Order: sequence, then structure tokens, then C-alpha cells
Amino acid sequence: MSIKLPQIIGHRGCAAYAPENTITGIHTAADMGLEWVELDIKLSKDQVPILFHDSTLERTTDASGNVADFNYSELRNYDAGLWFGESFFDTRIASLEQAIDALIERELGVNFEIKPCEGREVETAEVALDMLSQYWDDHKRILISSFSIPALEVAADMAQDWPRGLCLGSEDWPDNLEELVKSLELSSLHIDGNHCTQEQIEAALNLGLPLAAFTINDADKARQLQSLGIRSFFCDDPDALEDGIFMVH
Ligand code: G3P
Ligand code: MG
Repeated sequence: MSIKLPQIIGHRGCAAYAPENTITGIHTAADMGLEWVELDIKLSKDQVPILFHDSTLERTTDASGNVADFNYSELRNYDAGLWFGESFFDTRIASLEQAIDALIERELGVNFEIKPCEGREVETAEVALDMLSQYWDDHKRILISSFSIPALEVAADMAQDWPRGLCLGSEDWPDNLEELVKSLELSSLHIDGNHCTQEQIEAALNLGLPLAAFTINDADKARQLQSLGIRSFFCDDPDALEDGIFMVH
């Protein structure tokens, strides 16, 4: 299934301007004119899907410990904004349900990256896909991605007609990429634009899918990747790229 991604996708919402993976970040991305955002999904201990990147709370909240050890009723008490700036005090950890409401309200497209805590790959994808299938209708403006192949297998099974993207680190590049593209019926490949080699980029391009690079906040780097054939960029700071890349309309 083909998908048309915008050239700039707000990474973790709009992570240079608002705390990552929060409702405030979604609104900031829309206010800045972005058409799509990328958001990470994890599960609380009691299987509530939330927006969260790390497996621990320290970096982006005022609490500490493993995300997977806390129920959502506890997680929602923590502050997920103060670490970023005093003006973001009282920003809460967002549930997936709250995120869907905000995305629909602001008419944003979304790449939900399934980011399971270790050992929870299948259940994280199942719970997220179950909720998304209930609330999200617009198949052209959603892309499910993951570094986890089991999570993408669940997505292929539960939401066969939704586009899927595989995230690829430069160090753990699979030998069987072509096979994965076929078996998971992928629509895009998401590569580490700062570390992937030119050979890796060429190999991915040869498979005929659109490539999106994370995380690119520098216009020179974006232009270099564009010249190699990368179409889209996950970006924390859209202002840094907007004037520097070749815009395709
Ligand atoms: O989904 C693209 C990118 O977000 C993957 O890396 O660590 O920022 O989730 P990370
Ligand atoms: Mg991500």
C-alpha cells in the first residue's frame, strides 16, 4: 500500500518547542503548521496505552522508576513538562485516547511508533491497535511503525489495510530486509539519518519504498540526505529545516 508522507514530520510531537509525546506537543506542532507528527506508544502496568519514549520515567517526568511498573492512575499524577521548562509545569503524561482526540481536533496525520518495553512487544501492539481501530478512520493519515518486528506482525494481522513502516538502526540492520518488506507488507522504511551508511540507504531505496530519516534537525544534513533520495524527515525543530530543504509540492 503506498503512502504519501509529508517532507517534515514533527518528532515526538514538536520536541524542540514543547515536551515530547504530550498533548501540548501535538498542539504546538499544529500551531507551527506541521501536517504530521510522530509519537511513541508504550503501555502502563495495567495496559493503558500512553505516549512515552523511554522505558524509565527519570528523563521526562518528575518521577523515577520503570514505566511498566506503574498503573496509569499513578502515571497520570506525574509532571511530564517541568523538565522541559517552567512554563510547561502541570503537563501530564498523555494517554493514547487523549492523543487521538487532540490529533483529530487539529486534523493532523500521525505516525504512531509502537515502542514496547522489553518483553511487551505483542501486547503493546495489540492494545494500541485495538484502541486505534475503534477511534481512527482516516487510513491515509496514519502510519504504524516500530523497530519491533513482532509488533509490526500484530499490526499486519489486526489492521491489515493500515500502512506500516519499519524503523531501522544503522547497527542492527537486518540481513533479510527485502523479505521483511514483503512479509510485513511495508509502506515505508524509517532510517537513522545520522548514522546509516550510504550503502544502507541505497539498499533500502532499491526496495522501492519511501524512506524517512530520523532525527534530522540540521538543514545541511537534510539536503545531503535528500540528494541521496530520502523523502521525509522526522524533525524536532521544523524551523531549522523548512528554509533549508528542497520543498516538493
Ligand atoms: O520513529 C522514528 C524515531 O522516532 C525513532 O527513534 O528513539 O526517537 O523513537 P526514537
Ligand atoms: Mg519515536
